[in-house]
Amino acid sequence: MTKAQVLYKAGPPDSFKWEDREVGQPAAGQVRLKHTAIGLNFAETQVRKGLRPYPLPGVIGGEGAGVITAVGQGVSGFRVGDRVAYFGPQGSYAEERLIPADALYLLPKGVSDEVAATSMLKGATAHYLVHRTFPVKKGHVVLYHAAAGGVGLIACQWAKHYGATVIGTVSSEDKVAVAKSHGCDHVINYKDGKFADQVKALTGGRGANVVFDAVGVTTWDESIKSTAVFGMIVLFGNPSGDVTPEQYARIPLDRYFIHPTLPAYMAKREDRDKAIHDLLSAIDKGILKVEVRQRYPLKDAARAHTDLEARRTIGASVLVP
Ligand SMILES: NC(=O)c1ccc[n+]([C@@H]2O[C@H](COP(=O)([O-])OP(=O)(O)OC[C@H]3O[C@@H](n4cnc5c(N)ncnc54)[C@H](OP(=O)(O)O)[C@@H]3O)[C@@H](O)[C@H]2O)c1
Repeated sequence: MTKAQVLYKAGPPDSFKWEDREVGQPAAGQVRLKHTAIGLNFAETQVRKGLRPYPLPGVIGGEGAGVITAVGQGVSGFRVGDRVAYFGPQGSYAEERLIPADALYLLPKGVSDEVAATSMLKGATAHYLVHRTFPVKKGHVVLYHAAAGGVGLIACQWAKHYGATVIGTVSSEDKVAVAKSHGCDHVINYKDGKFADQVKALTGGRGANVVFDAVGVTTWDESIKSTAVFGMIVLFGNPSGDVTPEQYARIPLDRYFIHPTLPAYMAKREDRDKAIHDLLSAIDKGILKVEVRQRYPLKDAARAHTDLEARRTIGASVLVP
């Protein structure tokens, strides 16, 4: 018997129930995985609240690392005792789980379980944003909102590595310092909702070649004002709420717009493998620094969600089973 955070009904953070659960034996193609670390993601707060469809009762969470404890029929390339990590298959808020083997990646010695557990989903997201949605190159100006967040710290470092000038936005002075030490050349505190004039001032009036906006309704109007002619607005999250149809209608002429999602970019096995290969190798080479800044026992998942929603976290947070 192992424990898991079970959600019966969408609601506030204390909706999680910390319960015993029978995990059972892996079916063909599956392994049983004992988590050592579980990544926390903003989207999970939205699933918990019922803002994203999810079958309930159920166990949420899509990122983790651990040790294989049993292997099902037909699984090759993995053995009991292997240290692995994954993103995608839901059900990570559990001490132990069953999971398809083809979602797993063996961890190199230099990457800890905690770093892997918090950077697989966030790193795959940052990977597609800066390599595929808008391939960032030397000379580009990148504007990145919530730059001191989990995805933000990885994406800003990658964009800087490719030679861009990176302008980050954050909501507190603590976050300014962290964003500056993780790839941002300039950091704007956007707590008052304003940043477009500062972006224009930093870019000789031209604006940014790409605006990565995973904040939503509160940043949108200033984001579109901050985008250069022929630049791209990338809207990939909405913690502050949904952009309205009226706001979409205000996209200026001669700008590109995309609303990308991780499942579409990672639908092909080869794309997932490339993203994780590039991520682990960038961590190994020191191109990306990934530090876990908040740790919560898995049984306190409610407190982790409360902090994340209150914008109290910086960078990656881990749930410890
Ligand atoms: N489309 C995709 O493929 C995809 C995949 C993964 C993640 N995402 C999105 O990427 C974003 C970052 O994810 P993450 O897990 O790394 O989270 P995170 O950035 O660590 O946390 C969210 C951040 O959003 C900012 N924020 C602005 N307004 C907010 C509000 N009203 N309430 C709460 N936070 C607010 C906060 O930073 P400040 O305090 O600095 O403002 C907060 O720290 C999320 O929007 C997520 O949904 C999208």
